[in-house]
Amino acid sequence: MTKNKKTLISGVKPTGRPHVGNYLGAMKQFVDLQDDYQSSIFIADLHALTSVQNKKELEERIFELAVDYLAIGLDPKKTILFKQSDVPQVAELAWIFNCITTMPYLMRAHAFKDAEAKSKEINVGLFDYPILMAADILIHDIDVVPVGLDQKQHLEIAKDTGEKFNRIFGETFRLPEPYILEEVKTVPGTDGQKMSKSYKNTIELFASDEEIKKAVMGIPTDSKGVDEAKNPEEDKVFSLHTFFTKEPELSDLRKRYEKGGIGYKESKELLIKNLSEFIAPMREKREKIAKDRAYVLSILEEGGKVIRAQAEKKMEEVREKVGLKLK
Ligand code: ADP
Ligand code: TRP
Repeated sequence: MTKNKKTLISGVKPTGRPHVGNYLGAMKQFVDLQDDYQSSIFIADLHALTSVQNKKELEERIFELAVDYLAIGLDPKKTILFKQSDVPQVAELAWIFNCITTMPYLMRAHAFKDAEAKSKEINVGLFDYPILMAADILIHDIDVVPVGLDQKQHLEIAKDTGEKFNRIFGETFRLPEPYILEEVKTVPGTDGQKMSKSYKNTIELFASDEEIKKAVMGIPTDSKGVDEAKNPEEDKVFSLHTFFTKEPELSDLRKRYEKGGIGYKESKELLIKNLSEFIAPMREKREKIAKDRAYVLSILEEGGKVIRAQAEKKMEEVREKVGLKLK
């Protein structure tokens, strides 16, 4: 890894199986950017603890996400892969940030407001989520953070927090820029809403052929017959085709929708075929990697070592700046 490359960090919570929306919206960018940035990608397991409170489940989800990262093509020679909890310095930094952050400021965060609006039980970890995220980023003097649009506010909080610290204690942290790809659209789920684990409308990234078939066959359509003209923009099957069916097949399909002559059954079968071609190579790679637990764990361990040393160096500076280190 060369020194003059810009730095990049991002993470995903190990809270459930990733779907094709997570992949196209966020995870694919990690792979596409790993040649051009000095990249670190982590498993946000401390963040997951705000909602997953079951030892066995958390252990499984952490391991599975590590396998997923490798299966989508993150290359440990290019990207440092690690577990957030292997870097306890971020929790230490989050505490220091807590002490310069006001409650009303954090009460404006969307995730907190949503949870409150839904009368959910809100633990202190969830309330403090954006501050831990700020620590994840700022501790590494990061240039860019690739995330989906829904994380924009969290990045603003990270930047504000770094700015505030710099103002109080002197220039310490590089302020990160969000990297939100404009062209990354929201992938719709099988019911036409945003694809999301919370809506049970997903097509899993590593789904089996049977699961793909079941998900696609379950997409609701109107009752138009084969010969009737159909508006592709109004059809949930077609909107998924726009992500998984390549040209010229996609334009042909659009014409057949508009003219009439294709039924939903045929359209679904084509989508199943194309989804399957998209998913199968990653799924097969994943199956192989998952068998080598020792290899996967060694990647995380190595990554953790490198990142921990980097974070400790920064924390030395922070402790000194705030007055915790006596000379
Ligand atoms: P979910 O809504 O399924 O729980 P997460 O909140 O865990 O997904 O999101 C993880 C990442 O995937 C985020 O960066 C988010 O922006 C992105 N993402 C989630 N759903 C979609 C979608 N349907 N289309 C595009 N990107 C998505
Ligand atoms: N909050 C992010 C999500 O829900 C996960 C995350 C935690 C993260 N810490 C981060 C992303 C630091 C980027 C940088 O998707």
